[in-house]
Amino acid sequence: MCGIVGYVGSNEATDFLLEGLRRLEYRGYDSSGVVTIDEGELQITKTAGRVEELSKALKRSPAKGSTGVGHTRWATHGPATNENSHPHLGGDRILALVHNGVIENFREIKQRLVQHGCVFASDTDSEVIAHLLAIELEKKTEDTLNEIDPYAPLVAAVQNTLVQLSGTFGLAIVFRDWPETIVAARLGSPLVIGVGEGEHFIASDGSPLAGHTDKIVYLADHEIAIVTADAIRVVHRDQGDVGHDVKLLEIDSTEVELNEYPHYMLKEIFEQPEAIRNALRGRLDKDEATAVFGGLNLSAQQLQKVKRFVLTACGTSWHASLVGEYMIEALARIPVEVEYASELRYRNPPLDTSTLLFALTQSGETIDTLAALREMKRKGHPTMAICNVVGSTIAREADGGIYLHAGPEVGVASTKAFTAQCVVMSLLALYFGRLHHLSYEDGLRIIADLEALPEKVERALETSNHVRQIASKYANCNNFLYLGRQYNFPAALEGALKLKEISYIHAEGYPAAEMKHGPIALVDEKTPSVFIVPRGAVYQKVIANLEEIKARGGPVIAVVDEGDHQVADLADDIIEVPKVADFLQPIVASIPLQFLAYYIALERGCDVDKPRNLAKSVTVE
Ligand code: M6R
Repeated sequence: MCGIVGYVGSNEATDFLLEGLRRLEYRGYDSSGVVTIDEGELQITKTAGRVEELSKALKRSPAKGSTGVGHTRWATHGPATNENSHPHLGGDRILALVHNGVIENFREIKQRLVQHGCVFASDTDSEVIAHLLAIELEKKTEDTLNEIDPYAPLVAAVQNTLVQLSGTFGLAIVFRDWPETIVAARLGSPLVIGVGEGEHFIASDGSPLAGHTDKIVYLADHEIAIVTADAIRVVHRDQGDVGHDVKLLEIDSTEVELNEYPHYMLKEIFEQPEAIRNALRGRLDKDEATAVFGGLNLSAQQLQKVKRFVLTACGTSWHASLVGEYMIEALARIPVEVEYASELRYRNPPLDTSTLLFALTQSGETIDTLAALREMKRKGHPTMAICNVVGSTIAREADGGIYLHAGPEVGVASTKAFTAQCVVMSLLALYFGRLHHLSYEDGLRIIADLEALPEKVERALETSNHVRQIASKYANCNNFLYLGRQYNFPAALEGALKLKEISYIHAEGYPAAEMKHGPIALVDEKTPSVFIVPRGAVYQKVIANLEEIKARGGPVIAVVDEGDHQVADLADDIIEVPKVADFLQPIVASIPLQFLAYYIALERGCDVDKPRNLAKSVTVE
């Protein structure tokens, strides 16, 4: 979703701004823009389309200056046009700002501002902030014209503006009359400051900073930062001046490079064995036949008293939660509910004090997941984050948690984060199982299964070329069904989501038997069904469902265990993956489904890493 960058120092600001915006492209956007301050004037360049268009525009007409901010916009209010792109100007070109988030009361404010005589240049909600702030700045009351603190009028104007807004914001603002200063402010939309030598960087996540600095300051809600080349001052809405902690940024710039891969998605699919090893590293305790976690921040006695789990998430992370539900119920015998975070945040479910909430999120910034976590926290439930991005908002706000350690995931379609989340779910199931009735022998057996998993995933990756051929056979189909049962039902949902999001083909995931209750009406010779049918508890049952599809003329692609002849005789195409324990099947089966979506999208000429309308990190409701 929208991205923010900023630079203040002694170099040309646009060098960092353009590079930073390119690094943020993965978040999803449809237009971009920058503003710099050159000889006391604001220089704005904005273009609809890719950052490449912005770069060309800046080559034609360079924007000089060593202070500036930039933005990639993902349209929420008004289409992707030059006018609606950020930055937006306020007053008589006295300030320009970029905004992430949504201003919910912008219509009322806009009406007021129009009556006041403001002329709007865009359809966006964000532009109201620029006009409001300009008005507040012009007020400059006596008590803020303070010689001791030259920033007093600025701070007062920003604070007076922010209190009028409802909604969420991450803001970076430059001012004509403070040409060596950027003001950043946040409420619900992440912002970080990179600390350099005689320069500072602003960004909506750490990725633009990699290679520039490894020192990072995370801005918290209700804080504004006044940033110059040499100083950072942080002011909290209620507490006045507060300090700021400089943390270590744990992104290596080489981790976000494509290397020999054509797309991040493909790179990240192939990174899964390593991601799984990292998720397991140091977390298996063979002496006790259990899992160990460093950051749950609850004692074994407190965890022993947990009687119920609520897992909340969105999208792919929600699918990983469903896998977790099957695992935790089977191995730990603890009831689990999986809730869409966007629903949970507005519900008032009766939960008692023995309920533990886990929020699963790759980015740690998904606004619905954050809101659900806050709501549960407010009601007194202990909250845990299962998160990939270190230092993200959800990771910081949860009472405890577990990092995935999957490495940066840049492709919009989540792949390695999903399998790493499933692995962490299995570790939790093992841990809570061992706190209850899972035997020592069963614990050791699960550990052995998990230790063998990275190598099994490596072998599943060998299906790549074969799946590519299958993809070219079915790439013209416009509807797909994905079917599986038990552990493989969430894998079916995830397979369908992958296909939908990057190839724009309609796909539905269903429990294989449920398909008879409606979706079977879709089956015809142009609607392939992708079955996940490894040997296991429900193997013969799924085969029966597969036969029902064949009997109606539907083509079948089946993901099976290596050497499975029974399904091979029935299906049109089979993809063989290594045999694993039932609870790990969704992980191994997901690999060819990721390839299938990837290669079909390539066949259809889709932009795999930047699918239309999608954002990597969904920071608006
Ligand atoms: O960062 P999160 O895990 O919280 O993101 C949740 C979803 O937005 C995300 O999984 C989305 O569904 C992906 N595009 C799936 O590939």
